Amino acid sequence: MHILVAYASRHGATQGIAERIAETLRSAGLDAEALPVASVKSVAGYDAFVIGSAAYMFRWLKEAATFVRRNRAALAAKPVWLFSSGPMGGPTDTQGRDQKVVAVPKDAAELSEAVYARDHHVFFGAYSNDRKSIGLAERFMSLMPAAKTALPQGDFRDWPEIEAWASGIARDLTASLPG
Ligand SMILES: Cc1cc2nc3c(=O)[nH]c(=O)nc-3n(C[C@H](O)[C@H](O)[C@H](O)COP(=O)(O)O)c2cc1C
Repeated sequence: MHILVAYASRHGATQGIAERIAETLRSAGLDAEALPVASVKSVAGYDAFVIGSAAYMFRWLKEAATFVRRNRAALAAKPVWLFSSGPMGGPTDTQGRDQKVVAVPKDAAELSEAVYARDHHVFFGAYSNDRKSIGLAERFMSLMPAAKTALPQGDFRDWPEIEAWASGIARDLTASLPG
């Protein structure tokens, strides 16, 4: 069982999530590799897919959405899971846990339906606006007063949640193996 974990990441947070998912699948005895969508030449030869994107302005990054749409037929014929990385730590709930305050990306439902995704999961992301790599538009956005609450800086990725989700995928796939 050869699994592709394909991702689109602007600053590396989503890449880290994809790599942790691939590691978790490998430790469950499955053969998994994490690759940026842009470097995937063909989806042939993979038995299952986990595809994820960072969310920017309420949508997936274009290259990830295009990857799903372009390969729709091949992906729909195999088990597929989708994930988004985006929300930053928000107000805490009564147990002191961060709550995800940013909405599910607008295109997630359409993309999930297109490939009959078994699940779409939204993970907390990471963001720092002192990165040299951020463009002018992002710098401008992150300085707006509204962004200070919606986009607090930090690494909010929840590794136990990511590993638990990936372990669920491993269980699903292992259960479908013959014998
Ligand atoms: C300009 C800007 C817009 C963003 N828009 C959203 C959004 O609409 N929804 C969301 O959940 N997160 C949003 N985020 C947070 C990012 O998705 C988060 O930082 C993500 O983990 C970044 O992943 P990456 O490092 O792989 O690019 C935004 C961040 C920036 C800087």
